[in-house]
Amino acid sequence: MINIRCGNCEKLFSIEKQILDDEISPRAVCPYCNTHLKIGVDKTKTCNGLCSSNMAVEARAVDKVYKLGKAEYHALKDINLNIEKGEFISIMGPSGCGKSTLLNLIGCLDTATAGRLRIGGNDVSAMNENELARLRSHTIGFIFQTFNLIPRTSALKNVELAMIFAGVPRETRRKRARMLLEKVGLGDRMWHAPNELSGGERQRISIARALSNNPSMILADEPTGNLDSKRGTEIMEIIRGLKEREGKTVIMVTHDKDIARYADRIYHMKDGAISEVESVLGRGDS
Ligand SMILES: Nc1ncnc2c1ncn2[C@@H]1O[C@H](COP(=O)(O)OP(=O)(O)OP(=O)(O)O)[C@@H](O)[C@H]1O
Ligand SMILES: [Mg+2]
Repeated sequence: MINIRCGNCEKLFSIEKQILDDEISPRAVCPYCNTHLKIGVDKTKTCNGLCSSNMAVEARAVDKVYKLGKAEYHALKDINLNIEKGEFISIMGPSGCGKSTLLNLIGCLDTATAGRLRIGGNDVSAMNENELARLRSHTIGFIFQTFNLIPRTSALKNVELAMIFAGVPRETRRKRARMLLEKVGLGDRMWHAPNELSGGERQRISIARALSNNPSMILADEPTGNLDSKRGTEIMEIIRGLKEREGKTVIMVTHDKDIARYADRIYHMKDGAISEVESVLGRGDS
C-alpha cells in the first residue's frame, strides 16, 4: 500500500501500490472529501510512500487585510482554489474586487493575512525571502497591468534582463529574446526603448519578458488591456498555445468576457470573494 496526502483536505489515505505502477497518469479519489486527485509520481525514483496531488495552486480560507493607519480593509475573504498544473484560469470581477491582490498572493509578491496557500505543492507561508525569490524566478512569469519595464533600455534588453538573473548564457538569451519579441509582433521594434513605443507595444514587451525563463506558470493581469482586438487575439492565441503545446498553467485577470473565454474555467469575484466558478463550454471539463 502507498500513502497519499489529499491536496484538498490534507488527510492521509492508502491506495494499492499496483495503481502507481500500472497507470501512466495515476488517479485516486480521496475517501474523506471525494476530491479527484492526479498523483504525481517520478517513476525513475522509488516512491517513498508520500505522494502529493498534481496541483499548481491550492488556497484554503485565504484572507488578505490591508492596514490603512488604524483602519483595516478586507481585500480578500475566505478564498478557496484548486488549480491543476496545466490549467488555464481566468479571473473576472468589478474594479476593486481583489483580482490583482489575489494574483499577487499567487505570485508570491505579497503574503496572505490568514489561511494557507500552496504553489506547486510548496507552502509559501513557510518559505523565507530567498526561497520565495527562487520559486518566483523559476516557476512564475508575470505580465503586469502596468508594464514595469525599464524605460530607456531596448525591448531586447528588457526581455534579456530576467534571463541574466537566471544565469542564461548570452547567446541563448539574445536568441530567445528575439524569438519571443517576434512571437508577440515586435520583430521590427526590438531596438526601440519602451518610451519610444505605444502602450500596446510596451505590453507586448512585458508578455515576451514573462516568457523568458520558460516558467511553468504565467500570471497575467489584463494582458490584452492595451492592445487592439487583432493584436489581442494574436496574444491570446500565443497564451492559449502555451497551455496546449507546453502544458503551462495560466492564470489571467481580465475585464473582457471574450478574452476570459480562452480559459478552461472562469472564477468570478465580488467584494473580495469568489462568487461563481464557470466552466467554459468546449474547454476544460465541460
Ligand atoms: N496596498 C494596498 N493598501 C491598501 N489597500 C489596497 C492595497 N492594494 C489594494 N488595495 C485595495 O484592495 C482592493 C482590491 O484591490 P485590487 O487591486 O486587488 O482590485 P482589482 O480587482 O484588481 O481592481 P482593478 O480591476 O481596478 O485592477 C481595492 O479596494 C484597493 O483599493
Ligand atoms: Mg487589478
